[in-house]
Amino acid sequence: MWEKEIQVARQAAREAGIVLKRLFGQVSQIEKKGEIDLVTEADLQSEKIILDIITRHFPQDNILAEEAGEFNHLSDRMWIVDPLDGTTNFTHRFPVFAISIALEIERELILGLVNSPCTNEQFEAVKGTGAFLNKKPIRVSQTKTLKDSLLVTGFPYDVYENPQGVMDMFQKMIVRAQGVRRPGSAVIDLCYVAAGMFDGFWEERLKPWDTAAGAIIVSEAGGKVTTYKGDPFTPHLKSIVAANPHIHEAMLEALNA
Ligand code: IPD
Ligand code: CA
Ligand code: CA
Repeated sequence: MWEKEIQVARQAAREAGIVLKRLFGQVSQIEKKGEIDLVTEADLQSEKIILDIITRHFPQDNILAEEAGEFNHLSDRMWIVDPLDGTTNFTHRFPVFAISIALEIERELILGLVNSPCTNEQFEAVKGTGAFLNKKPIRVSQTKTLKDSLLVTGFPYDVYENPQGVMDMFQKMIVRAQGVRRPGSAVIDLCYVAAGMFDGFWEERLKPWDTAAGAIIVSEAGGKVTTYKGDPFTPHLKSIVAANPHIHEAMLEALNA
């Protein structure tokens, strides 16, 4: 099931990945959407390729894409696209960034695909069929305690205006975990939780395109994904905790402490 959809997502990610690889280290047009929120020709070219391919195959579907916005055809199917997650990394030639494509039907995540061009990693999940890295099944870690956990997080672009809330959460975690990382791509953070490299991820004020594909990949890898309050996660909610099921509750307790 969903064979055509996953094939189209693969084609879109493959073609966008070629463009991102070619532009990596060559970016010449950097614009600011906010004080520290960048957009480059790489974001725009990648997004155009992805949207053209999706639209060619599924002209009736809705699309929500970071740079182009929403195309509403009154469908109950919506593609959610981040053409370049990790733009700041990309502009600095730090090779942690990815293309993220998800499909939601009646507000339920059905598939997620994340492609990291520099590491040649492609993560995929289709609802009910497990999660895969380069076609091999992946599972979340088995780590039992926060003290033995390597956690990962990120900071929102409005952090200049409101640093304290984010720093409070960060402090709560660094004194409880074995370590905390901030690589700069939420979708990669989520996929690395799915693959068991990180034990848990938390972040707030993300957008649907930052989390949609990664959230289903974590769920299908056996992870638990909720809001900070413990409500079931959807990409339209503003906080996310994604972790192996053993430490998930401890992360919620720590964040709400
Ligand atoms: C950003 C990255 C980052 C996260 C930011 C996101 P972008 O996405 O995922 O890790 O901390 O909140 O906005 O702008 O590079 O697509
Ligand atoms: Ca993003
Ligand atoms: Ca982006």
